[in-house]
Amino acid sequence: MDISVKLFGKKLTNPLFLPSGIVNDVPSHKIAAESGAGCVVLKSITTEPREGNPIPRVAKYEYGILNSVGLKNPGLKEGKKQIREFLKKTKIPVIVSVFAVSVKEFKKLVSEIAELKPFAIELNLSCPNVESEFGQMISNKSKSSYEIVKSVKKEARKVPLIAKLTPNVDQIGEIAKACEQAGVDAIAAINTVAPSMVIDIYKRRPILGAKKGGLSGPGIRPVAIAKIYEIYESVKIPILGMGGVEKWQDAVEMMMAGATLVGVGSAVYLRGYKIYKEIINGLEEFMKKEKIKNIKNLVGIAH
Ligand code: DHB
Repeated sequence: MDISVKLFGKKLTNPLFLPSGIVNDVPSHKIAAESGAGCVVLKSITTEPREGNPIPRVAKYEYGILNSVGLKNPGLKEGKKQIREFLKKTKIPVIVSVFAVSVKEFKKLVSEIAELKPFAIELNLSCPNVESEFGQMISNKSKSSYEIVKSVKKEARKVPLIAKLTPNVDQIGEIAKACEQAGVDAIAAINTVAPSMVIDIYKRRPILGAKKGGLSGPGIRPVAIAKIYEIYESVKIPILGMGGVEKWQDAVEMMMAGATLVGVGSAVYLRGYKIYKEIINGLEEFMKKEKIKNIKNLVGIAH
């Protein structure tokens, strides 16, 4: 029985990863790396430092979490130093996530981050809380997604590129395909469901400082499953799936939909880092009972 998975020619001890954004500062990602995750994705960085949106930036509701962090991060110059240190100390593969509002900025970020030779670079084409030069989220359209991937591909040199997509579109398969045609090496999906809002009925105002944000957690899992299922039918490249996974059953379901890797993020925020070991134990148990020798045999079998 083998729960290790291969991605970009590298073996990961298991298919679970920490998605971008749950942990805010680079050094704190260490805990996820030590808790059993097979790989981690750092919080997206931008060329310039960002203070983030007005507080509160995070709000819980019964079925998940809303956030509008506004990509709070130290910017490329300081971020690079922190990432370099982190890569030196971390044993598991590290994916660096970048966010920009223009082609020019994306090129700069990818080119400079590629120098650090991380496991991969994630292009965040889907932050719901910051507008791009395209006047909307880049992954809202095939054309802008293609344009960004195509223009940064050379800058990445040998570092694999991942495009992270928004679920808030009709035909995510077409957008994934445009990214694949532009040369991306994998698709990450889904980013948060947005816009979303909760109102404090006593204060009579939206809870989030920015009023609206992106929704994650168990409530979005069926959306994630449907989108991953659709992407799997549209592209040949691997999918890093995420969205509301809390239990081993959810991870199995997501792999069956087509995910090679499964992100566990909001559940860590809600229930703690022990969740990685719990899900891993459940996966091993399931494989034993179902006589599945290799976990990769689960990927896409629901099709
Ligand atoms: C933020 C970025 C995201 O990609 C997301 O899905 C939600 C929030 C942010 O930093 O605001």
